[in-house]
Amino acid sequence: MIIAQISDTHIALDTPDAEQRARDLEAAIADINGLDPLPDAIIHTGDIVQNGRPDEYALVSRILARARAPIYVATGNKDDRGNLRAAFSPWGYLEPGADFINYAIETHPVRLIAVDSKNLNSNKGDFCVERAERLIKLIDAEKTKPIAIFNHHPPFEVMVGPHPLNFETPEMMERLRRTLRHSNRVVAVFSGHVHRGTAGHVADIPASVMPCIATNLRKGEYPASMQSSPVYHLHRFEPACGFITEARVVRSRALAPAETPALAVAE
Ligand SMILES: [Fe+2]
Repeated sequence: MIIAQISDTHIALDTPDAEQRARDLEAAIADINGLDPLPDAIIHTGDIVQNGRPDEYALVSRILARARAPIYVATGNKDDRGNLRAAFSPWGYLEPGADFINYAIETHPVRLIAVDSKNLNSNKGDFCVERAERLIKLIDAEKTKPIAIFNHHPPFEVMVGPHPLNFETPEMMERLRRTLRHSNRVVAVFSGHVHRGTAGHVADIPASVMPCIATNLRKGEYPASMQSSPVYHLHRFEPACGFITEARVVRSRALAPAETPALAVAE
């Protein structure tokens, strides 16, 4: 099974760099569409849009609709749960009416479970008792397959940035870490939020963070030739060794007619 991960697209309509952010996402989707073999799934680990607005989600939806693999989304601190749900409910996997954006995808050899770590009071993450109970239910709903978790805030201390703790309190992060260890079937955790690539662990579970797709918001040092090239992650699962992660640099390529830039399309 192959999973392509994108994150932190921060799509906006009225910032000076709005067109660049849309182009970065379009380029990443075009690159993923050109992979052979295609990934089985694409996960978006949150901060899909900048301001949580319906018109921002409308633009994202138009771009993501061009992907040739199914896309599953997690909520980030910049996302609005109600507007995210309204935009992506037609895609058929979000639980109608639920407050948190938590769900499991059962159609692949590795189960995908989206975890909602949004905090209404802070850009840092939250993971409350109710979310822990919901995650345990999702984990326990199937007892044979390995599980990949995807969420926005990394559940480990990130030592390469200014803020090692990306949850509001250490207790919140520890609650998530404990819940992830509820079963030995969780084999990987994929996150975003810190806008740079890094990796850590939850006990013996490997956890990784990908850089943000929006190139002008990306942190870390990149050569000048890569400044306008988004980077995304490909995670390949092998039963014998788990996930192997590869960072892929998007190279500009001619867009197919169906992939013409979406920002100018006003429908
Ligand atoms: Fe972000």
